[in-house]
Amino acid sequence: MADVHPLIRDELLPPERPPRRHLISIADLSREEVERLLGLARAFARSLDRDVKKLPTLRGRTVVNLFYESSTRTSSSFELAAKRLSADVMSIKAAGSAVDKGESLKDTALTIGCYDPDVVVIRHPEIGAPHLVARHTGAHVVNAGDGKHQHPTQALLDLYTIDEELGGVENLHVAIVGDVLHSRVARSLIQGLRLMGASVTLVGPPPLIPRGIEAMGCEVSHEIDAVREADVVYVLRMQKERMQAGANYVPSLREYTARWGVTPERIRPGQRVMHPGPMNRGVEIDGEVADAANALIERQVRSGLAVRMAVLYDLLTHGPVAVAAPETLEVA
Ligand code: CP
Repeated sequence: MADVHPLIRDELLPPERPPRRHLISIADLSREEVERLLGLARAFARSLDRDVKKLPTLRGRTVVNLFYESSTRTSSSFELAAKRLSADVMSIKAAGSAVDKGESLKDTALTIGCYDPDVVVIRHPEIGAPHLVARHTGAHVVNAGDGKHQHPTQALLDLYTIDEELGGVENLHVAIVGDVLHSRVARSLIQGLRLMGASVTLVGPPPLIPRGIEAMGCEVSHEIDAVREADVVYVLRMQKERMQAGANYVPSLREYTARWGVTPERIRPGQRVMHPGPMNRGVEIDGEVADAANALIERQVRSGLAVRMAVLYDLLTHGPVAVAAPETLEVA
């Protein structure tokens, strides 16, 4: 490019950015990094028990939450986590933003990038959206759920909850029940549990268990009785919004509940029950199971705050090691 005017050459080159760390997939993390994040989350959890909960740690930093899909737990906990760390927080939901006027994710990312955010947290229905934001802003990017691909902070908060409740994750047996096919939670959690030395059995009707998923190091059963051997029964939501119209994954929700619903009779006393939320009570999980003392569902939500504080803190303070984002993944 020797003949090209320097200004034009600069346009042709990818933007010069300092190395940044992102959290886009659990596959970005080593076991040591997960342990470090869980340790940090434990420290931040102690701050949540104090009268004055705010810490000055990220004062002067800016966190943008960019949500293209509905969320209660993830969006509220990232917002509160950033505020508890004294960061400036901007929360943008696609509905009511310029997305309604047809703005592309790239242009939204470039627009937000003008404010020099330190972290962009993104949830989007398309796989690869976090990579695109990483490419077009100078921020650290946290994936808050992209399509059915990954939801890494959900997996971290689940590992944290299990670790706190059962004194460790290694050698535990976790049964993940339900709609694995459409679940980014399941994909992230399987990776996280295997990384930390737990064994995993996926339970559900054949159409909702992806073919070949055993390659992730888990077992598969189509019989609900398989959950009885597990230390933890992790129930997944039936994701009706991701199911293709006209596809018959199960004959009916009533039949799904009859054969694979997690009811009091199907679990052992003392077995821990988890669900990422939101729950369809009476479909994949019986209300009595959800409200029982051994259900960890509200603890998962509380863990989410400490874990997301840890993730924000860690990204902004722990060294400039870059996790490579794949090349362009255009998302409308
Ligand atoms: N578990 C989870 O991602 O919940 P929300 O959709 O409410 O964020």
